[in-house]
Amino acid sequence: MPVITCIEDLKRMHRRRTPRMFFDYCESGSYSEQTFRDNCSDFQKIRLRQKVAVDMLGRSTRSTMIGQEVSMPVALAPVGLTGMQCADGEIKAARAAEAFGVPYTLSTMSICSVEDVAAATTKPFWFQLYVMKDEEFVDSMLERAKKAGCSALVLTLDLQILGQRHKDLKNGLSAPPKMTLPVMMDLATKWGWGLEMLKTPRRTFGNIVGHAKGVGDTTSLASWTAEQFDPQLDWGKIARLRDKWGGKLILKGILDEEDARRAADFGAEAIIVSNHGGRQLDGALSSIRMLPPIVRAVGDQVEIHMDGGIRSGQDVLKALAMGAKGTYIGRSYIYGLGAMGEAGVRRALEVIWKELDVSMALCGEKDVKALGPHNLLVPQDFEGRWA
Ligand SMILES: Cc1cc2nc3c(=O)[nH]c(=O)nc-3n(C[C@H](O)[C@H](O)[C@H](O)COP(=O)(O)O)c2cc1C
Repeated sequence: MPVITCIEDLKRMHRRRTPRMFFDYCESGSYSEQTFRDNCSDFQKIRLRQKVAVDMLGRSTRSTMIGQEVSMPVALAPVGLTGMQCADGEIKAARAAEAFGVPYTLSTMSICSVEDVAAATTKPFWFQLYVMKDEEFVDSMLERAKKAGCSALVLTLDLQILGQRHKDLKNGLSAPPKMTLPVMMDLATKWGWGLEMLKTPRRTFGNIVGHAKGVGDTTSLASWTAEQFDPQLDWGKIARLRDKWGGKLILKGILDEEDARRAADFGAEAIIVSNHGGRQLDGALSSIRMLPPIVRAVGDQVEIHMDGGIRSGQDVLKALAMGAKGTYIGRSYIYGLGAMGEAGVRRALEVIWKELDVSMALCGEKDVKALGPHNLLVPQDFEGRWA
C-alpha cells in the first residue's frame, strides 16, 4: 500500500489506473487552460500568518453549510461521468462523503442515477441540475430528486453552452468508451478498471437514458446533450425552477459582482463563486481572486461558497479566511476515486481535513468558524486592477 501524504499522490495513481480518456476529461480546462491553471496558482500567492503561544487544544473544523451540520465546510462538487472514473463512482463518492460528514452533490450527468445513489446511502445528498430545453424532462428530474430525498438543489448557471476542451475531442470522449484501436490499447494497461466496469450494469448516463424522450441508447445521447442544454436560461426561468423545486437552492457559477447581487436578491440559500473549474470561459479570473469582491458585495445577504483549484486543506483555510462559508472540491476527490475507489475519496477527505486542522493550529486558530482575513498575508495587488 503506497503512503499517501497529499492529493498529488492520489492524482498520480488516478493517472496510472484510469483510461486516458477519463483522466484527461478530469484534468482539463477549456481552450488554453489559463483559468484552470490560475485557479490553483492564485491560491499559492496567498500566505498564512503564523501565530505562536496560543493554546491549541480542542480544535474544531465543524461548521454548517446552508444550515446543515458538516464535519468540515468542504462539500463534494457535482462531477459528470464520475462513474466512468471508477465503476459505480457516484455511489462510492456519496458513501465516502456520508461517512465523513460532508455533503455530496450528484450531477445531472452522472452514471449512477439519483435513485441508485439514494438506495446506496442513508442520508440526504444534494442534486445538481443542468437546465435542458425539454421542460418535461427537467420537471420530472426535479420530482425524482425530491422523491430520492435530496435536501438541496444546486442549479448550475455557467454551462448552457459547452466550453471546448481540446483533449476530449482528440480522445473521442464517450460513456461507455467506443472501442477504437487507441482505446483498446489504452484499456489493455488499465485492466483493473475494466474488470470492475464489467461487474456493474451502470455504464451510461443513469439520470437520462430511459427517462428523457428520444434517448434510448448512448449513440443518440451525445447529440441529445449537445442539443438539449437550454441556451435561453435566464433569471425568469431560474425563478420558475426555484418555485417548482420549493426547497433549498444553491446557485452555482457566479463569478461577477453584478450577477452575485442579482442572485442574492433571488432568495437562494447560497451562491457558489465558481468558473466550473476552468472548464467553461477560459480567460475568466480565478475563483479565489473573485471571492473577496463578491463577499464585499453580498456577503451579508447570502451564504457564499466557492470552488475551483482547491488541492489542499490550506487552500480551504484560505478560502474560508477570505469569507467563504463553505467550499467544494471537484478534482481532488476524483483523483482519490480514480486511484482507490471509495477508500480513495475517504483518503482525499482525510488529507484535506488533516492539512486544514494542522494549518489552523499553526495559525493560532481553534475554530474553523473564526478564520478571517487576520490569518492571511495577501499581496497588495492580489485582486488586481481590471478595467
Ligand atoms: C471532470 C469534471 C466534471 C464536471 N462536471 C460537472 C457537472 O456535471 N456539473 C457541474 O455543475 N459542475 C461540474 N464540474 C465542475 C465542478 O462542479 C467544480 O465546479 C469544479 O470541479 C471545481 O474545481 P476543482 O476541480 O479545481 O475543485 C465538473 C468538473 C470536472 C473536473
